[in-house]
Amino acid sequence: MRADSGNRGGAKWAGAPRKAHAGQPIPKPGRNEPCWCGSTKKYKTCHAAFDDKLTILAANGHVVPSRNLIKTPEQVEKIKESAKINIAVLDEIQAKICEGMKLSEIDKIVYEMTTDMGGIPAPLNYEGYPYSVCTSVNDQVCHGFPLEERFLREGDIVNVDCSTILNGYFSDSSRMFCIGDVGPEKKRLVEVTKECVEKGLAEVKPWGFLGDMGQAVHDHAFANGYTVVREIGGHGVGLQFHEEPWVGYNSVRGTQMVMAPGMIFTIEPMVNMGKVEIYVDDENDWEVYTEDGMPSAQWEIMVLVTENGHEVLCW
Ligand code: MF3
Ligand code: CO
Repeated sequence: MRADSGNRGGAKWAGAPRKAHAGQPIPKPGRNEPCWCGSTKKYKTCHAAFDDKLTILAANGHVVPSRNLIKTPEQVEKIKESAKINIAVLDEIQAKICEGMKLSEIDKIVYEMTTDMGGIPAPLNYEGYPYSVCTSVNDQVCHGFPLEERFLREGDIVNVDCSTILNGYFSDSSRMFCIGDVGPEKKRLVEVTKECVEKGLAEVKPWGFLGDMGQAVHDHAFANGYTVVREIGGHGVGLQFHEEPWVGYNSVRGTQMVMAPGMIFTIEPMVNMGKVEIYVDDENDWEVYTEDGMPSAQWEIMVLVTENGHEVLCW
């Protein structure tokens, strides 16, 4: 296993090189000048208090988001349009997915529906990824290829991970599907993983820390006897597919990046029924599996931090 940024989909790996964003001096407009956010309001009545808060947090050693991670209301609207396609595509998969389906059929539906709605599937050709969607079955952790020769069988659990580009704006979410009767153990894994995302989401509010979210996810998985993959995480999203910050779930309350209004990121823990270790397929350098062959589940939502809490943009 090469659990480092040398694997494909590098930005999602914990070891990937990333830009500095902690403790940087924040350039500020004059108080009567227009705000940097494009609102046309004076800086002093717009983001001045916001910047002051971040400056103090940074001075106290916290990791704060750089300004390019704070989406303007106009950007949020465009990202929501992209997210509508992502939701519609996953709804369509949810209506059609069944025993006997080839994974390549899912890829075809995703490609056709996304492009019919004016979008582009973000995975296609991303760092050389050869399909429009990731389909990860049973012991596949993520980045599974939707192959022609792979059929869904009764008892399979499968994650379908869709991402859309619309007019240059990105959205990203994934859902789990149970094919027929999957048995109580796999069913519980799928349900608990969804609960992990919900527990994490409940922690998303301005001026909290990503570690509050991460610990909530991890604690729930751990309490149910599961492990949470360490090497691959969520990410900022919206203007690019994978932006800062990297979002882990083995983190601790009160640590990691401060959540500020206007940030958008994914919550997408990979929860293993068995051991935490994973490996990457040697031949394609993409597909990720559990080392012990036990099942893994993942749900992914895309969340905006708002003034009062959060808004889920796609799921
Ligand atoms: N959709 C995945 C995510 O949640 C990204 C997969 S990278 C790809 O971030 F190239 F495989 F699509
Ligand atoms: Co993602």
